[in-house]
Amino acid sequence: MTLAARSGAKIGPTSGMTGPEIVRLARRHTLYEWSAQSAVDPIPVAGALGSWFWTPEGKRYLDFNSQLMCVNIGHCHPAVIEAMKRQLDVLPYVTPFMASEPRARLGAKLAELAPGDIDVFFFTSGGADANENAVRLARTVTGRQKVLAHYRSYHGATAGAITLTGDPRRWGSEPGVPGVIHVPDPYHGIERGWDTASDALRRLEEVICFEDPSSIAAFILEPIPGGGGVLVPPDGYLQGIRDLCDRYGILMIADEIMSGFGRTGEWFAVNHWGVVPDLITMAKGLTSAYIQLGAVGMRRWIAESFDRRVYHGGLTYNSHPLACAAALATIAVYEKEGLVERSARMGERLRQKHQELSDRHEIVGTTRSIGLFGVVELVRSRESMEPLAPFNATSPEMQRLAHLFREKGLYTFVRWNFFHTNPPLTVTEDELDVGFRIIDEALAELSVGPDH
Ligand SMILES: Cc1ncc(COP(=O)(O)O)c(C=O)c1O
Repeated sequence: MTLAARSGAKIGPTSGMTGPEIVRLARRHTLYEWSAQSAVDPIPVAGALGSWFWTPEGKRYLDFNSQLMCVNIGHCHPAVIEAMKRQLDVLPYVTPFMASEPRARLGAKLAELAPGDIDVFFFTSGGADANENAVRLARTVTGRQKVLAHYRSYHGATAGAITLTGDPRRWGSEPGVPGVIHVPDPYHGIERGWDTASDALRRLEEVICFEDPSSIAAFILEPIPGGGGVLVPPDGYLQGIRDLCDRYGILMIADEIMSGFGRTGEWFAVNHWGVVPDLITMAKGLTSAYIQLGAVGMRRWIAESFDRRVYHGGLTYNSHPLACAAALATIAVYEKEGLVERSARMGERLRQKHQELSDRHEIVGTTRSIGLFGVVELVRSRESMEPLAPFNATSPEMQRLAHLFREKGLYTFVRWNFFHTNPPLTVTEDELDVGFRIIDEALAELSVGPDH
C-alpha cells in the first residue's frame, strides 16, 4: 500500500474548489505577508503527505523547504494527527492559570531535551512572542534595558521582535522600540566572505564597551542565522559570545526557532559548539507547525527570581493543551524515528549534492549546510563573485530560477542571490536525488549574462 493510501491522504480536490478559485478568493479577501499584493502568486494547496504537497488539480511539489523551515517531521504524520484528535476529544482549551496534563508533560520533556541546565519553560503562540518574552525576562532579571542583536537576523514581526531583527524586513517598522543595538556579523556577503571568530569577537567587545556593558540586558542571536542564508559561524564564535556575556553580566538568548528540533543534526544548534545559553526560544519544529506553539526555555535561577515577584507577561493561548499535545506527539516522532540523527546522516548526502552542484555549475558561488539546513549562493562569475542578485533585491535570473523550480515541481525558498535546501527530516535518499536533479536541470537552463 502506498504511503498516501495508508494515511488516507487523497491527491485531488478536497473541498470542491478549484485551484484558480482558491487563489482568486484568497487574494481578494486576505492580505499576504511581506508582499505587494499585486505580485502575489500563491500555489493553491489541497493536501500534503511526507515530503510532498499538491494542488486541487493534482500537480505535485516536492517540499524542499519544509514549508517555512518548520514541517520537520513531514506532512500529515498520522501519530501527531491522532494525538491532536485525542486531545480535542478530551480538552481543547483551559486558561493558562490552570494546569493540564499536556502542559505538565511538555515542560518536563523539554527540560530533558534542552541544553545544559535550562529546565523551565514559558509557552507562547509562536516565535515572535517567544522572543518578546525572552527579552522581557532578561530585562526584568538584570534590571538593564539594552539588547544586542545581529544585522543578519530575523526574530519575528511583533513590535519588539521586528526591532531586534537586523534583516531589511525591519525597515518597514522603524523606528521600533528603544534600546536595541545591532552589531555586525562575522559574514559580509559572498564577495567579502567571513571574518575569523577572533576578529568578529574583538569587534563585538568594542561595541559592548561603547554601549556601556552595565546597561546591556541580553544578546539575542540565531546560532545559525537561517533566513539570512544558513550562516554557520566559525568555530569559537558562539563560545566567544558566551564568554563575553559572562564577563559583562549579559544574558545570552539563543533564538532556535528555525534551527531547533533536529534541523541541523542536533536537537538544538548550540549543541554543535557545546554552548548553553541563558534563555532559548523555539517554535516551528516544536510542533512541526501542525499547530501554533512557541516556548522560551530558561535556566532555573531565572525562573526562581519570579518566586516572590510577579512575572508581568501572559497570553490567552499560553500552554494551549492542544498545542502542547501536538508538541509531545511531534517530539515522540523525532525520538521514535531517530530524526535528529537522521538529519545529521542525510545532511552528509545533502552536502555531497551541494558539492556536485558546485562542480557542475559555474554560477554556484558557495554552498553551506549543517544537517538538513542548507543554502546555495549564486554568482555572476566565480572571478568577480558578484552575487546573482544584489543584497535585498532580486534579478531576472533569480526570478527565472524560482519560476523553473515551480514549473518543475520543486518548492523551496528563493531569496536575493540564494535558495534554500531544507527538506523535512524524513526525506528519503530518492527524494533528495529528485530534488537535486530538478535543481541541476534548472541551473543548467538558466542563462546568466554579465550584466543585469
Ligand atoms: C529565527 C526566527 N526567529 C523568529 C521567528 C518568528 O517566528 P514566528 O513567525 O512564529 O513569529 C522566525 C520565523 O521565521 C525565525 O526564523
